[in-house]
Amino acid sequence: TAPKAAEPPAWQPRITALICNWCTYAGADMAGTTRRAYPASVRAVRVPCTGRIDPLVILKAFEQGADGVVVSGCHPGDCHYVQGNYFARRRFAMFRSLVEFLGLDARRLHFAWVSASEGTKWSQLVEDVTSAVREAGPIGDWGGAKRAASLPALPDVPEAPRRQPPAAEQDAVSAHLRALATRLLEEKQVAAVVGYTPGPLPGSMVPAFATTADEAAALGWSERCYNDLVVYAPTARKKWGKVAIVVKRCDAGAASGLLRESQIPKGDVTLIGVSCPGVWEDGRLALKCYDCKGEVPGLCDWTVTPAGAQPGAVASGATRAVAADPRDAQVAFLESLPAHQRWAFWMDAFERCLRCYGCRAVCPLCYCQTCVADKNQPQWVPTSIDAEGNLIWNVTRAFHLVGRCGGCDECARVCPADVRLDLLNHKLWTEVKTRFGAAYFDDPAQPAPLATFRPDDAQEFIR
Ligand code: FES
Repeated sequence: TAPKAAEPPAWQPRITALICNWCTYAGADMAGTTRRAYPASVRAVRVPCTGRIDPLVILKAFEQGADGVVVSGCHPGDCHYVQGNYFARRRFAMFRSLVEFLGLDARRLHFAWVSASEGTKWSQLVEDVTSAVREAGPIGDWGGAKRAASLPALPDVPEAPRRQPPAAEQDAVSAHLRALATRLLEEKQVAAVVGYTPGPLPGSMVPAFATTADEAAALGWSERCYNDLVVYAPTARKKWGKVAIVVKRCDAGAASGLLRESQIPKGDVTLIGVSCPGVWEDGRLALKCYDCKGEVPGLCDWTVTPAGAQPGAVASGATRAVAADPRDAQVAFLESLPAHQRWAFWMDAFERCLRCYGCRAVCPLCYCQTCVADKNQPQWVPTSIDAEGNLIWNVTRAFHLVGRCGGCDECARVCPADVRLDLLNHKLWTEVKTRFGAAYFDDPAQPAPLATFRPDDAQEFIR
């Protein structure tokens, strides 16, 4: 008789375990020496400390075919490097929040504290994680989930209350800006003023660099001044030394971030705050302006309003009533969807991404000399313009800006593929404020939320 065909082996999930050398690795060793059996589904990667784990490594594990990832280290207070796992806890909380918002199946990503004496806890953890990942199934074509689900549409955004400023007000602001720029240049307080000037298209305004009184006379202001000029601050300062920069309320977060991260010394950069009535795109107020009162940022050195230019940040700059931010409703809508539909929504968006890196070019906080997306030894972010490469790039970009994003939403405005990067930024900022309870927006003296910690930070997602 013909030999019976061998039964195909039951599917075993592949799980990557990122474990710290000093506690969990020793705990896993303890499980072995005490002969505790657990599934052979886990491939352990030993790292010095959870504080050294960049969430990009977790993405890389998924990209390389892991069906699930578990991250584990010393209990809070036991870290061999004293604080590493406190920082890691904040980072993991935000990373988990980001990937869950994207719709990654929560059964695929786990966090735990396992000490050197907790061999039993380690073996139980592997059992639990393995059964959760087994339930979730093979990860397969994880960037291509769109084909498996119908695409949800975001709810429509109602029109914001309109108050397009009269041309006379804009002309007055322009005149005061020109006079102030001329004065700062002539008194040699600064060597250049970064502002706006009329662009080649009718009504458009583009960035301009004035170094003489003649060039200052070409500066202006209108509701079409979209660009966040803070992006030019580091290079302008290197080129000219002391510079002045025109900022709106929404640009202040970026200025604050660059000051906080020592990218621009305060003494070298003069911030000219404009009482902004909101910027208008396609005949309607830009989304980012819905919840802005148009007040002048508190860290500004000058305030320009239709009434004139005054030193300091003048509190009376508010120009309009605040409406609810429509992105709250859109984020809530996405959160209400089942995970696989959220995943489909975002994969569809990321599939359109051209990898033009326009989002990176306009972001004042994307200032690394060599972006991780351009590194190829090792190549953390695939350069291929496909679902997987685009997914990793967009998650990396969003995560690198957690708690640092200034909220100008220029990335979303310039995206030629209409990827709603502003929703990712908005969701992460809301989460930062809820979890860590601080207003970091325009106070450069506050540390960035992921650059600090509290011993009692919430850790409900860690076993
Ligand atoms: Fe184990 Fe830091 S040494 S988490």
